[in-house]
Parts: sequence; structure tokens; C-alpha cells
Amino acid sequence: MRKITIAIDGFSSTGKSTLAKQLAKELNYSYVDTGAMYRAVALYAMKNDLSHKQLISSLDQININFKFLEETQANTTFLNGKNVEQEIRGMEVSNRVSEIATISEVRAELVRQQKEMGKNKAVVMDGRDIGTVVFPDAELKIFMTADPEIRAKRRHDELLAKGDAPSFEEVYNNLQKRDNEDRNRLDSPLLQAKDALVLDNSEITHEQQFAQALDWAKEKITE
Ligand code: DC
Repeated sequence: MRKITIAIDGFSSTGKSTLAKQLAKELNYSYVDTGAMYRAVALYAMKNDLSHKQLISSLDQININFKFLEETQANTTFLNGKNVEQEIRGMEVSNRVSEIATISEVRAELVRQQKEMGKNKAVVMDGRDIGTVVFPDAELKIFMTADPEIRAKRRHDELLAKGDAPSFEEVYNNLQKRDNEDRNRLDSPLLQAKDALVLDNSEITHEQQFAQALDWAKEKITE
């Protein structure tokens, strides 16, 4: 059976990473969360209080990698050897990350690393520009979308479960702001690739969504 590249793009909080992880597990592929990479760079800039210019000249000092941790059974993000998984998901980073993701030099460096991570195929990568910029030749491209209110509610529930307590409005506004920034930035805006298959999960369950995506993947693998 041939190995393929699966690119999953879409709006914030549409469940891209949930689907990407399920597919990677089922197909025994690796999973790369590119949003986590932008978040880790944003965290680095915040911690070190760097201007854009300073951040650009520090890019070679930022080392991001992922490990699957047995104790949490989760794909975990490490920034310069430190586990930052919790910290990069908080509101502070969420509020800054889209701005950091507009910096062309940051994008170029992360895209370079992402291409390297996926060069042997058998990878599921999720983000905003995977099917358009990182892997324009990916065999399967999925573009995920859902109603903004439903997305904000899912994200709010997720944050509450983690012990973070922002209001629903704060989460909703943050999502709207990020969607706008992602869609309107000059370098690699969030765009649906022409050959992407659209998955709107406003009204379907995780199981239905997974079944649909797995069917698509199997079709491509056996093509
Ligand atoms: O998927 P996420 O919410 O964790 O992504 C965090 C931010 O990073 C999001 O606001 C958009 C940006 N991003 C990007 O510009 N390109 C990617 N490939 C992935 C994420």
C-alpha cells in the first residue's frame, strides 16, 4: 500500500487536531501539529519580550519538537527541551499567536521544518497552509469548517475542563479575531486549496467525521 501525505487545514477550533490524531493513529502515520509550532514561537517571543526584529534574529535559537508521552498518552510540544504543552494552549498565547504567524521569516523557517518532518510521507499535518504552501502536492487535503458559535462553545468547554476560566464572549471574540487575522494576512493566508475536500462538522459527530475522513484516506491510499 502506498504512503500518502494528509493535509488538514481550516478555521480555529474546528477539531482539526482531533481528526488528525485519529487518522494518524489508525493509519500508523506520524502527526504534526503546526499550530503548536507557531504557538511555541509566540511563547518564546513573549517570555523573552522580543520585538519582531529581535525574534527574527533569534529564530535559530528556537528548537521545537514533539514527543508522545506515555504518562499522558498525548503528543506533547517541547520548546528548547521544556514541555510547554499546557502553556501554549492558554489564552495569553492564543491572543498573540496570529500576530506572530504574520511574520514571513517565522513562516519560512517553520515551513522549512514542516517540509522536513513530512518528507517521507506517511504523515498527517494540520494547520492553515498545509495544502496550499507546505504540501501543495499532498494526496489528500481536507478543509475543515463549522459554525462559529459551535466552535466557540466547543473551545470554551475544552478550556473550562482544563481549569482555565475565560468567559464565552472572550473565547468567541478570540476565535473571530484569529479567523480574520488568519484569512487576511498577506503571507500564506488561510485559504481552501482548490483540490481540498470540505468537511463541515457543525452537525456531525466525531465518529461520523472520522469515518468520512478515513474513507477518503483509504480511497487515496489504494488509488
Ligand atoms: O491551530 P492553532 O489554533 O493551534 O494555531 C495557532 C495559530 O497559528 C493560529 O492563529 C494560526 C496560526 N497558524 C498558521 O498561521 N499556520 C499554520 N500552519 C498553523 C497555525
